[in-house]
Amino acid sequence: MAVASYLPERNLALELVRVTEAAAISAAREQGRGDKEAVDQAAVDAMRQVLARTDLDGIVVIGEGEKDEAPMLYNGEVVGNGQPPLVDVAVDPVDGTRLTAEGRGSALAVIALSERGSMYAPGDLVYMDKLAVGEDAAGTVDINAPVEFNLRQVARANGKAIEEVTAVILDRPRNADYIRQVREAGARISLIGDGDIQGAITTAIHGNGIDIMFGIGGSPEAVTSACAMAALRGEIQCKLWPRDDSEREYAREHGLDLDQVLSTRDLVNSDNTFFAATGVTTGALLKGVRFGGIHTSTHSVIMRSESGTVRFIEADHRVEWVEGEIKA
Ligand code: FBP
Repeated sequence: MAVASYLPERNLALELVRVTEAAAISAAREQGRGDKEAVDQAAVDAMRQVLARTDLDGIVVIGEGEKDEAPMLYNGEVVGNGQPPLVDVAVDPVDGTRLTAEGRGSALAVIALSERGSMYAPGDLVYMDKLAVGEDAAGTVDINAPVEFNLRQVARANGKAIEEVTAVILDRPRNADYIRQVREAGARISLIGDGDIQGAITTAIHGNGIDIMFGIGGSPEAVTSACAMAALRGEIQCKLWPRDDSEREYAREHGLDLDQVLSTRDLVNSDNTFFAATGVTTGALLKGVRFGGIHTSTHSVIMRSESGTVRFIEADHRVEWVEGEIKA
């Protein structure tokens, strides 16, 4: 009897996890020292070292900023060892640099890939208004609809009363109206100090008790989150959010439509996204880095959109390896 041959294509996320593990371990060494720049620099250095040895020909589309202000992992930087595949790269060496510097939970080291030319580049518009939900509510919500409508949709999809629905919101004055409207609708709130990539992902992974994310956060984080939401079959909708008239003028000059609702597909136009995140400090999604004598433990999640596979990976790194491969 012929045996069907199953040859899965290369799952880049399995290789990317080494990049986020290295970044998380390096960043975690700076935990609680009050120095955001040191946290970021440690993660960037480690990420770049491991990326340089990874088989890919990548261009950073979502990076640390423009070349003049970001010496490494800047937008447009070529990364990887130059071997195929040709990919777009989104990096957030630490989503939650302040959380890490202050010794608080929920910071992640994150990277995402998709086919070359498929990631949305937000240019100078650094903020987007965001709405994210998991698979059951995907297709039923609308960022232009009232907050209460979206809460009712997600309540129905997730089989809950509206009083049981939990909305995750980034704690910023600009999100005060969302907080008020969710309260008025009678739903619950999980307020986060930073880290809305994790916020979006938790809406789409069962068991977190989070149903929906509202609020204005970083544009780069929106694109990176979309790579995960594509794999999770959830949905993220965003709108560019200019801070002032000069940003409105920038949008006009660059033909960016401020009324356009950017879907998951608009943010990353690909059936082949890869996403990896490793916990730097412990949060709702992942445990943080634990230094334990000769062993260092990490906890990661990796995803691939084509198959929809989501893997959680616990790794035990020997100190010699960490020192030799990451620190040296
Ligand atoms: P970084 O740690 O990479 O700086 O980002 C943290 C973060 O909270 C993001 O998750 C979020 O999208 C963004 O900052 C919000 O921006 P701001 O802190 O300017 O409100």
